[in-house]
Amino acid sequence: MCYNTFTGDYMAKYIDLRKEYKKENLQEAANYIKNGKLVLFPTETVYGIGADGLNAEAVKNIFLAKGRNSDNPLILHVSDFKMVDKIACALTPLEKTLMKNFFPGPLTIVLKRKSIVPDQVTANLDTVGVRMPENKIAHDLIALANTPIAAPSANISGRPSGTNISDIFDELKDKVDYIIDGGETKVGLESTVIRVINNEIHILRPGKITYDDLKKYANVVIPTHILSQVNPNEKILSPGMKYKHYAPNTKCILVYSENKEKMLHKMQELETTNTLVITNKINMPYFKNSISYGSSLEEISHNIFKILRSVDKGNYDLVIIEGVKAEGLGLAIMNRLIRACSHNYIEL
Ligand code: TXA
Ligand code: MG
Repeated sequence: MCYNTFTGDYMAKYIDLRKEYKKENLQEAANYIKNGKLVLFPTETVYGIGADGLNAEAVKNIFLAKGRNSDNPLILHVSDFKMVDKIACALTPLEKTLMKNFFPGPLTIVLKRKSIVPDQVTANLDTVGVRMPENKIAHDLIALANTPIAAPSANISGRPSGTNISDIFDELKDKVDYIIDGGETKVGLESTVIRVINNEIHILRPGKITYDDLKKYANVVIPTHILSQVNPNEKILSPGMKYKHYAPNTKCILVYSENKEKMLHKMQELETTNTLVITNKINMPYFKNSISYGSSLEEISHNIFKILRSVDKGNYDLVIIEGVKAEGLGLAIMNRLIRACSHNYIEL
C-alpha cells in the first residue's frame, strides 16, 4: 500500500497497462502476490481480487476485503496444467477432456482437491474450483507468481462484479495492495462453473461457456435454482448461489415474454415519471426514459454490470429491465438479472 500525501489515506499501488503491456511490467505485482498481498487484476470475464491461493493468511484477507461469508469457496486460477496437478487429484477422463477443450477460457471446473489447498479457499469442502484464464495479464501474473491465485470477482459482496477499474476503484482502493488496470474485460460476466458427477456435467453457475458448448461432451444438468430462488431444503452444490448478488440499491424489476408486444406493454404499464428502462436500442423509443444495454447477447453480457452499477446515480424510484430468452449466453444473463432484481421477475 502507498501513503497518499494529499489525503492522508492509505491506498493501493496502481499500474496502467491499458495501452502498453509487457510481461516485465507485472513482476512487481507478482512479488506482491508472493509476499501474501492482495492484487486486483483483469481476467477475460471480470476483474478478480487475487492472493496466493496456497497461503491461508493471504486468502483470509480476501474474505475480509470483500466482506464475504467464509462458507463461500474461492476459485484457484492456474497458468498451466502442472498447477492443476498440484491442487487437484483423481481427474476423470471427462474432466480431462473438458479441461483440454476449454482451458484457457471462461470455465471453472470443481475438482477433488489435494491437501496442499488451504481450507479457507475451499470453505472446508473436499473440492476446489479450478480455472485457467485466457487473459494475457492474468496468465502472466499467475506464471510469474508461480502459484495458483485465489480470486473472487472484484466487488464488495452483494455488489455487481467489476468489469473495469473506474467502476470499482472507490470501492476497493483501500482494501487491496495493488491494482492492475487492463481496461474493460471482454466477456463481462463471470465464468461458467461446472462439476462432473457420475459422468454428467452439472452447471453450478452459467456463463459464456454454454449448455450447448458442454453438451458435446456429456449429458448436462441445469439445476432449477439457476433461474429461481434457492429452496432452503434443496441440496446445493454451489454455495455462492445462496447469496444476494449483483443488486443495485434502487428497486429493479425484470420483465420478459417471448411475445414482444406483451412484454413492451407490461413495461410501459410499469413506467412512471421517475423510472429508468434498460432495454435494447430498437425498443428504446417505446419509453420516456431508457438506456440501451446492447443488441446482441454478447453486448448485453459485456455491458450489464457497468449499467447495474450506474443506476443508483440516477435517484430513480424504479428500474425496469427487459429480459432475454434464457438460452445460450441468455441463461447466464437471466441468472444475473434475476438476482440483480432480487427475484422481482415478471414472465408473461
Ligand atoms: O470469472 C470468474 O469466475 C471470476 C474471475 C475473477 O475468475 N471469479 C469469480 O469468483 O466469479 P467468485 O468467488 O465471485 O465466484 C465463484 C463461484 C461462487 O459462486 C462459489 O460458490 C463457486 O464459484 N465455487 C467456488 N469453489 C467451489 C467449489 N469447490 N464447489 C462449488 N462451488 C464453488
Ligand atoms: Mg462474485
